[in-house]
Amino acid sequence: MKFFVDSADLSEVREAVSWGLADGVTTNPSLLAKTGRPYAEVLREICAAIDGPVSAEVVATEAAAMCEEGQKLAQIHPNVVVKCPLTIDGLKATKALSARGIRVNVTLVFSPLQGLAAAKCGATYVSPFVGRLDDLGHDGFAMVEQLVRILRNYAYPSQVLVASLRSPNHVLRAAETGAQVATVPFNVMRQMLEHPLTAIGLERFLADWHKTKQKI
Ligand code: E4P
Repeated sequence: MKFFVDSADLSEVREAVSWGLADGVTTNPSLLAKTGRPYAEVLREICAAIDGPVSAEVVATEAAAMCEEGQKLAQIHPNVVVKCPLTIDGLKATKALSARGIRVNVTLVFSPLQGLAAAKCGATYVSPFVGRLDDLGHDGFAMVEQLVRILRNYAYPSQVLVASLRSPNHVLRAAETGAQVATVPFNVMRQMLEHPLTAIGLERFLADWHKTKQKI
């Protein structure tokens, strides 16, 4: 399974890359706004920090303008994957950009049929949002399971990129669905690696080793 870092924070991206766990990055307008820096500049730096796809979202709402923005974003760096929202205009833009060889990540997917539509329009990635559905009392993973099954049934090449993950358990459940990618916030990536028994075990091993006064 691939892990993308769900962040526009360059230091988080660099740290996750240094751990060997980052296969790509996803950003969105809210994450970019948090940096307080120019969009293109941040994007260029993130793309230079990682050898993998970096999703950058359009903010226009009409297909023609989305395509224009998408082409501009794609010119920033070959790692850029253009993110389009799952609207009718977003699907039109997805089809047009994909036809021009520009990879598209269709975002804000909340139902399996929306995801199927994105795959039909040539999306490279389809991003179902789990956490935001769970927030409303729905079962986000039931939707992801259906989407994974549907895309497999018809052998669509689109990859399911599970988004809006809020905890290590969410990442585990994403992996169980067979989705190709999980985009993980940096703090969740760190939490996934921590276990109290690992910490206690290491402390005991080292205490016993130091008693021997030996060196390796
Ligand atoms: C990633 O592509 C999405 O924009 C992100 O996972 C959304 O996460 P949130 O629902 O926690 O904002």
